[in-house]
Amino acid sequence: MRRVKIGTDEKLFRSMHRRYCDDLHELPAWDRFDASALEDSVREELRRAWSARVVAEYRSMVVFSELIARMPEAGLSLEVSCAASRLLQDEARHTELCQQIAERLGGTDDALVDVKRDLHLADENLRAELFVARWTVSMFCVGECASVGLLQALVDEGKDPCVSRVLETLLRDEILHDRFGWALARSVIPTLTDDEREWLSADLAFSFAHYDRVNGRGMRAEGGEVTVGPARSDGAERMGLIAPSAYAQAWYTRLDTVIMPSLRGLGLAANEAWMLRHEAAASQR
Ligand SMILES: [Fe+2]
Ligand SMILES: [Fe+2]
Repeated sequence: MRRVKIGTDEKLFRSMHRRYCDDLHELPAWDRFDASALEDSVREELRRAWSARVVAEYRSMVVFSELIARMPEAGLSLEVSCAASRLLQDEARHTELCQQIAERLGGTDDALVDVKRDLHLADENLRAELFVARWTVSMFCVGECASVGLLQALVDEGKDPCVSRVLETLLRDEILHDRFGWALARSVIPTLTDDEREWLSADLAFSFAHYDRVNGRGMRAEGGEVTVGPARSDGAERMGLIAPSAYAQAWYTRLDTVIMPSLRGLGLAANEAWMLRHEAAASQR
């Protein structure tokens, strides 16, 4: 396991990074950050949540870099690679912003990545078109698209000025990533063979299993609704952490209204994949 590495002694890397990261958004007024009113246990819960986001955002950056590496081989144009490189920089910005909040809440010693598991995409020797399609569907059409709904739910509750600034920056970027992902999916999926499209639909069950566990925590029974519990009022909601049931509700709403119909529109067997997610999860244990 390795800590997410942020910081460099090389001046050139630092100045380029600062220019790319800071030019496109308003920086939080960090001197206004104040978590002193929180109970210790709430502050620690928040710290852990933001520290986990450091790892998730860092992993997005790694995934995008692997996708970019195979875009030319998949026959995608120069514009696609160039546009995707902006996304990679966005994820670097997100990693850093989440790290800055987590540090102010007590530290990021637990922001660890498993080099083998977290910093590589499994490719099972897929040809480039299928590799790009697989991770576009998983990371963008499900992951990034869900992020828009989830971040909106956090933004709606976020009242701390620094945290709100960070959440709004993340949301603004994710809205673009979501649009990029669907455009990429529209570019690559039609180039697949029927067999590959079928494989992609089956693989979608694994993505649903992952995102439903992380975002929904299985809070919605088949055909039922999420029972939304009481909203948080311990100060965590002001700083980017809402009740699990409210978070799950945001996930299922996004899933029903955008993700599923759009995946079906791309010709993928999304309903079947959703039904098979428990089976997919069991096969991975
Ligand atoms: Fe991100
Ligand atoms: Fe993103």
